[in-house]
Amino acid sequence: MSRHQTVKRHTPRSLAALDAPIVSLTAYTAPMARLLDAHCDLLLVGDSLGMVVYGMDSTLAVTPEIMIAHGQAVVRGSQQACVAVDMPFGSYQESPQQAFRVAAQIMAQTGAGCVKLEGGQEMAETIQFLVQRGIPVVGHIGLKPQAVHAHGGFRTVGRGDEAEQILADARAVQDAGAWAVVIESTMEPLSRKISEILHIPTIGIGASPACGGQVLVTEDMLGLFPDFTPRFVRKFADLGKEVEQAAAAYAQAVRNRSFPGPAECVGMPEKK
Ligand code: KIV
Repeated sequence: MSRHQTVKRHTPRSLAALDAPIVSLTAYTAPMARLLDAHCDLLLVGDSLGMVVYGMDSTLAVTPEIMIAHGQAVVRGSQQACVAVDMPFGSYQESPQQAFRVAAQIMAQTGAGCVKLEGGQEMAETIQFLVQRGIPVVGHIGLKPQAVHAHGGFRTVGRGDEAEQILADARAVQDAGAWAVVIESTMEPLSRKISEILHIPTIGIGASPACGGQVLVTEDMLGLFPDFTPRFVRKFADLGKEVEQAAAAYAQAVRNRSFPGPAECVGMPEKK
């Protein structure tokens, strides 16, 4: 009998109807998914894994194969959270048909509940194409990390003229049929306006408490990603320090031969 039979997994539909903020974190591996699952409504297999797991300096080199492998791990490691898998750069921008082929592969091979893709008005046709063919989509507007070079770096967006475009993006993504939209690194008044206008859930990252839910990169909020901490991150733990301390204690125990000890060995003669 499968251990997955008793717990009902969230779906895009159940999350869209949730009468509480959507709680979301990124997850890239089965063990992390297991730890987060009971606390999160939505686990996002973000292409941020390119930077966080693989040490790349942007998300641009992440491939569908990488996303599928990590998506499979997160679905295996979770039971109740809905799992969203990011569509990586270059796998959907060419045409709705290209997007469908890749999204269908991700959905079929991972068992995820939906995909996420970056873009607003320019991606509306693609979002509609996927949704009409049975693939639930989360949009992603505001700062779009896959467009980091066009943005001129990882920065807060939505000042001046940018605000009108981002608002139009939000409407376009909703009208195309996305069930939710991630808003990244935008000014508070804009995030608030979008969240008030849209009838689908908004999920903010660096976009203020005005959003309907929140998402963070798990390694950021655990203090496990030392390269760069955006201003909007709150560190809920400092596990990086604990890892360093544990590694130092292990190294010392190996060097002074106190590890492994009798309890960690089989057949070791007891000291008299
Ligand atoms: O890739 C990612 O982790 C994301 C979140 C930052 C929303 O898109």
